[in-house]
Amino acid sequence: MAKRTLIAGNWKMNPPSVREAEKILKGVMARTAGLRKTEIVIFPPSVFIERLVKIAGRSKIRLGAQDVSVQSGSGAFTGEVSADMFYDSRARYAIAGHSERRNPSAGRGESNHEINFKIKAALAAGLSPVLCVGERERDRDHAYLQLIKSQVEECLKGISKKSMEKMIIAYEPVWAIGRNAVREAVPEEFQEMKIFIKKILADKFGIVPADTVRILYGGSVSPKNAEGFLREGEADGFLVGRDSLSPDKFGRIAKIAEDAGQWRLS
Ligand code: PGA
Repeated sequence: MAKRTLIAGNWKMNPPSVREAEKILKGVMARTAGLRKTEIVIFPPSVFIERLVKIAGRSKIRLGAQDVSVQSGSGAFTGEVSADMFYDSRARYAIAGHSERRNPSAGRGESNHEINFKIKAALAAGLSPVLCVGERERDRDHAYLQLIKSQVEECLKGISKKSMEKMIIAYEPVWAIGRNAVREAVPEEFQEMKIFIKKILADKFGIVPADTVRILYGGSVSPKNAEGFLREGEADGFLVGRDSLSPDKFGRIAKIAEDAGQWRLS
């Protein structure tokens, strides 16, 4: 069965207050209320999750964690928040391996091994993991393909075929992310990578999970380029950074996905 297009908003360390977070969420709710074929997930800073879950109420919007601890349950791990705690706060998704956390200089230098543990913790708690993969640069010898292959294989090591039903993968080329992006990616580059990732999944898990896992695109997604990535790139959705903080832009991206979803099913 075809899964719905997933439009995810990664708010990162924004906005600065819970009041502003409520305002953005209400704006997104107003603009996405009528959508039927599109799933919306917001990843706010963890301290806002409980409040935003209440506001989202019976709407179709779901909340997720931007990161989870490798440790499960509870214990003496200062500053850590476990996947079980996020589930208890009614988060239902978790990002794992975002490039800003993999980055050794600016972030935490997370390894594939550590991300693998986080995915396992998220799955055990009942969360759907969104695994981020992506190369920092594209070399002429195509070594970046091997890098993506290692990221996918090592992060999904020991994950069962059954658990793959809950997995989501976001391909986010680091060179296309954020204000310092070198350039925008084009839909063909995403489409090639989607086929490549599906092949890795098919070799590892067989055709069925490989076929149903949604592969999202992330990296400077905007209302201007969304349609191209969906129609020509055949993206199963997006992980949106900056434009997810604007209810207007995020709502427009979701609407484009809804329309493209109808087109894909027809
Ligand atoms: P961006 O961020 O849309 O601001 O490029 C995407 C991401 O980091 O997930």
